[in-house]
Amino acid sequence: MKNKRKVLKNKNILLGVTGGAAAYKAVDLVRRMKDEGASVVVIMTAASKNFITPLSLEIASGNRVYSGVFDDPMSHINLPRNADLMAIAPATANIIGKFANGIADDLLSTCLLSFKGKVVIAPSMNWRMYDNPIFQENLRRLTAHGVMQTGPDRGTLACGEEGIGRMADVSEIIETIKSAFSKKDFFKKRIILTAGPTREYLDPVRFLSNRSSGKMGYAIARACIRRGAEVILVSGPSCLKQPQGLKSFFRVETAQEMRDAMFKRLAETDIVIMAAAPADFSPEKKEKAKIEKSGKLSVNFKNTPDILSEIGQLKNKPILVGFAAETGRRLDRAKKKLIQKNADMIVFNNVTAVGSGFDVDTNEITIIRKNKELSLPLMTKDNAAEAILDAVSDTMKKQAKSGPIQRLRANHRRRR
Ligand SMILES: Cc1cc2nc3c(=O)[nH]c(=O)nc-3n(C[C@H](O)[C@H](O)[C@H](O)COP(=O)(O)O)c2cc1C
Repeated sequence: MKNKRKVLKNKNILLGVTGGAAAYKAVDLVRRMKDEGASVVVIMTAASKNFITPLSLEIASGNRVYSGVFDDPMSHINLPRNADLMAIAPATANIIGKFANGIADDLLSTCLLSFKGKVVIAPSMNWRMYDNPIFQENLRRLTAHGVMQTGPDRGTLACGEEGIGRMADVSEIIETIKSAFSKKDFFKKRIILTAGPTREYLDPVRFLSNRSSGKMGYAIARACIRRGAEVILVSGPSCLKQPQGLKSFFRVETAQEMRDAMFKRLAETDIVIMAAAPADFSPEKKEKAKIEKSGKLSVNFKNTPDILSEIGQLKNKPILVGFAAETGRRLDRAKKKLIQKNADMIVFNNVTAVGSGFDVDTNEITIIRKNKELSLPLMTKDNAAEAILDAVSDTMKKQAKSGPIQRLRANHRRRR
C-alpha cells in the first residue's frame, strides 16, 4: 500500500521522559512516532529510570538515550539544535514547574530552555497534584507561551483513584505532534462534518442502519483540526473516540436528527463535508411497543431528508462535499450526484473493493470536481482525509478569487 504522506517523515523529535507512572507508555510512543516517519532521540530524567530502563527506549528509538547534563558536554545545546520538535511524555508536575520557571538543573530542563521550536507536553499525575493551583498556574504560563498541551484525561489513575490526571492516549499525543507540523490552510474556517451511519427505527428496539463505522469522517475531523479549522462534528452512532479539539460535537441517531443538527449551525459555516452514510429510507411508522414475532412482517418505507441536495439548493451555500459509496466502480453515479445535488465535490469510494470502504483503516477514493477527477491509490484513511482537504483547499482558493458570494460571506462573518 502506498503511504506517501507521513506527516512526521524526516522530522527529528527530541522526547523527554520524566518520572511518572505513565513512563512505560513512552516505549509505545517512540515506536508510533517512528512508524509515522520520525527520528526520535530520548532524554530521560534520573527519576524516570525508576519506572523504565534506558535500554528499552534505546531499542525502541534505535538511538542513544541521553540523561546527564555532564555526560556529553554540548548535548544541552546540540540535541535541541538538531530537533524539529520537543515532546515531554509523561510530563511530571516537577518538569512542568521547572520549565514554567526557567529552571535548568538537569539535561531535559536545560534542553527545554535552549530549544527554539514547538514543545508538546503530556501532563500525567495524581488528580490532587493536577488540581493544585500552583501547578495550574505553571501550566497556564507554559500554554500562554505557546507550549502545546495534550491531555490529561479523566479515568482510573495509577494509584487506583478516579479523577483527572491520566496521560493522554499515545494516539492523541501523536495527533498533537502532527498538528504542530501541519499547514494551517483552514485556520478559523468553520466546517460542519458528518460521520457514521444513522438508525431508522421500526420500534423501540429495532432499527435499519448500515455498515458505516465513522472512521473516514473522524479521520477528516482530525485532519481539519490539525489544519486549523473550527470543526462541528455531527456523528451517527459510532464507537470511535471523539477527536480532541472539536468546536462542538452532536451525537445523533436518525437522518432527520442529523439534518436538524446541521441546519442549526449552517448559517455560520464555510464548508460542509458529508462523510456520513445517512439512511435513504426510514420506516413510515415507528411502533411504540416492540413488534411481536408472529408470521410475516411487511414494512413501508419513506425517504429520509436528502441533506446534501437541500444544502446544495441554498442561495449562499457553503463549499459542499458529498460522498458516494458505491458497490462497484460506478463513477458515473458519483458524477451524476455532483451535478444533481449541486455539490462542489464528490468523494467516490467503491465499498466492495479490497481494503476499501466500511470499517477498515484504509480507503481507495476518487475525488470528483466539475472539471477535475483525481483517482488515488489505496491509502490510510488519515492520508485520504489529507488528500480530500487538499482538494477542498484548492476549491476554497478558486472560489475566493472568483466568487463574490464567498467573499461577502467571509466579510460578513469577519464583521460580526
Ligand atoms: C511510584 C511513583 C509514581 C509517581 N508518579 C508521578 C506522576 O505520575 N506524575 C508526577 O508528576 N509525579 C509522579 N511521581 C513523583 C515524581 O517521580 C517526582 O516528583 C520526581 O521528582 C519527578 O522528577 P522528574 O520530573 O525529574 O522526572 C511519582 C513518584 C512515585 C514514587
